[in-house]
Amino acid sequence: MIREAARYALARVKTRNHNSDSELRKALMLLLEISDPDETVLLRETACTVRNESSGARMAVRALVETSSLCNNDCYYCGLNRGNKKAHRYKLGREDIVCCAKDAFSHGIRTVVLQSGEDGTHAGEVADTIADIKKIGDIAVTLSFGERPRHEYALWKEAGADRYLLRIESTDPNLYASMHRNRKLESRLECLDALQELGYQTGSGIMIGFPGQTAGHIADDLIFFTKRGFEMIGMGPFIPHPDTPFARAPSGSVRTTLNAIAAARLCMPNVWMPATTALGSMDKDWRPDALRSGANVLMPNFSPQEKRKLYSIYPGKRCIGERTALVQQECESIARAGGLTVDWSRADAPAFAVTLGKASSAGPA
Ligand code: 5AD
Repeated sequence: MIREAARYALARVKTRNHNSDSELRKALMLLLEISDPDETVLLRETACTVRNESSGARMAVRALVETSSLCNNDCYYCGLNRGNKKAHRYKLGREDIVCCAKDAFSHGIRTVVLQSGEDGTHAGEVADTIADIKKIGDIAVTLSFGERPRHEYALWKEAGADRYLLRIESTDPNLYASMHRNRKLESRLECLDALQELGYQTGSGIMIGFPGQTAGHIADDLIFFTKRGFEMIGMGPFIPHPDTPFARAPSGSVRTTLNAIAAARLCMPNVWMPATTALGSMDKDWRPDALRSGANVLMPNFSPQEKRKLYSIYPGKRCIGERTALVQQECESIARAGGLTVDWSRADAPAFAVTLGKASSAGPA
């Protein structure tokens, strides 16, 4: 049974026909809390229609390379936090990283995402690695190295980096403080400002269902994402890691995560949104469901096989590309299960694709 209020909220968010943030917030909260089966179908189908009409029924592929599990931070949710003495730490060298990028390229993937803990790697070393990767061919480089000074972001951009992912985790300063030791929301916002100003295709995101987070918080975060005009948004369920302060907290809800993806799609028709690895690492692989809720990116793992287990942000991480030889078939089959076809191009954000002279990857709209 579909409530009139749900239809109304859906229409309001979809048409962006609202007079105030508080009205939008209320509508988003209602969508986030949907659990009725008919309403769920309506929400997800509407989100997919919006996506397909604006960016096409396609799924982009990004190769993830986890370059270092060292970290100087103490985030209460993350298994890589510096206080976790049980974690085995590693750091890949420049040649290893380039080798992973070549491997991805040879499998037809045209974006590599380099991610690490905040390990303080020398910025010049990173720049050299980026330059090496750009020599492989027409491959986009996305970085996910956390908070760094603006001049380092600038150096990396100069070296050829195209995109940067930095999740906000929460736009509520108190909630943000409750999940990070010695960290301020303000500095994260400054980093996101710098990245956008420097011309990165910028991504942000949040976990869903960590301690203290409510539907109101998520609605506020979605409004923030929409206003900032990010090109990419990543959202996955919180999964408790046994060696962190949040060890005893329950996992985030898959339903709320899928609702959040659908709601985000309604607010941001063109955004690139992954079916996150966290969603693939729960009781079952929920990534096709994410694609059926409005997501359109998959991130197979191209880290060296023996390092993947060590990059343990949360337990039970399911990696596609367990056997790299099968990665293309796996991507095709997850896309198919999600009702999409694979787009093997670098799949830039539409505005950037035009600047880069790659309008063909910008999709129909
Ligand atoms: N569960 C789910 N996601 C997590 N992340 C960190 N720890 C966890 C966890 N326990 C997410 C954060 C971070 C991204 C790289 O991984 O949102 O930004």
